[in-house]
Amino acid sequence: MTLLTELPITDYQTLSSKELFDRIAEAKTKLGKQVLVLGHNYQRDEVIIHADLRGDSLLLAKYAAERSEFPTVVFCGVHFMAETADILSQSNQTVILPDMAAGCSMADMASMEQVDDCWDRLGRAMSVEEKVTPIVYVNSAASLKAFCGEHGGLTCTSSNAKAIMNWAWARREKILFFPDEHLGRNTANAMGFPREDMIVWDPDQPNGGHTRDALAKAKLLLWKGHCSVHQMFQASHIDYFLKQYPGIQVIVHPECHEDVVNKADLVGSTEFIIRTVTQAPAGTVWAVGTELNLVNRLKQELTDKQIFFLSPMVCRCATMFRIDAPHLCWTMENLVQGVVVNHIQVPIDDKVHAKLALDRMMALS
Ligand code: 13P
Ligand code: SF4
Repeated sequence: MTLLTELPITDYQTLSSKELFDRIAEAKTKLGKQVLVLGHNYQRDEVIIHADLRGDSLLLAKYAAERSEFPTVVFCGVHFMAETADILSQSNQTVILPDMAAGCSMADMASMEQVDDCWDRLGRAMSVEEKVTPIVYVNSAASLKAFCGEHGGLTCTSSNAKAIMNWAWARREKILFFPDEHLGRNTANAMGFPREDMIVWDPDQPNGGHTRDALAKAKLLLWKGHCSVHQMFQASHIDYFLKQYPGIQVIVHPECHEDVVNKADLVGSTEFIIRTVTQAPAGTVWAVGTELNLVNRLKQELTDKQIFFLSPMVCRCATMFRIDAPHLCWTMENLVQGVVVNHIQVPIDDKVHAKLALDRMMALS
């Protein structure tokens, strides 16, 4: 029996862009229907160009669930997205993340221990299982999705958060929303939900920073967590563009602070942003508040419009950025050799309940 040996990543780091492009394309041709390459909208151009399908996190989750004809899925995105793909794909499919270091700083802001502790403390203030629906943003570890599945809750993405919250409030009187405080608050604001019924659960404070009474009264508990990229956009950036370019339209992602979201003309997921700006009339002017790679691509592709990046700072998702052409080439050429690198495998116990949470979401999306 011949043992398959993994090709080392270091061999790829000195290749030119042209060599990498050609070799990835060649590996893809050789692999044919063996492999589906999925790419999130924030991926670098050198990676997204090789994606068979691209989209926001909801769309990519749908692709992973539907495209069972491909034995292998190479997921160009971040770790939680690849985990979701593994949960939703068939058991005979293999999901690969080209660089295991492509995580998400927001996902890291809620651990299983912290969420268990929160649930426990809520349980001391009320009959938590009857009263609270846990909703976890997909930007989270699989174990947290499983927690929601087990406790009558579900997942959401930035494109369906409103429908998910509506569903939850129709069933139980309270929601625990984690780990993104901003998506939760912005969605509730858009639904006209009263401000005084929302509180922020700070996992670093005893009892989340609240008395038992306050916990018992609140209808929406927002986990203190955020996206390090989207928190960089500020309302003053919008003021600047409105002054310089009267008539400009501002479109932002719902992970931004509410001050930014409230001042913007439009708010939505990465897919919504792409669709809206693409379909806008020629000559319109836009300031876009989401990750830099996506905005740069819009600028390059939609030359009939004037498109600005909303912040004067570089708001780039450093972890998405880790998936580069060398890692994609390394992954694909290893597959050609029959070697699977960076296999994403959610433990079976988590998988069952996490799938329940994701399936509930999918049914409402
Ligand atoms: P989308 O679901 O809009 O693609 O957002 C994913 C994400 O991580 C945004 O920071
Ligand atoms: Fe996570 Fe923010 Fe990067 Fe999205 S942009 S993957 S939320 S760190």
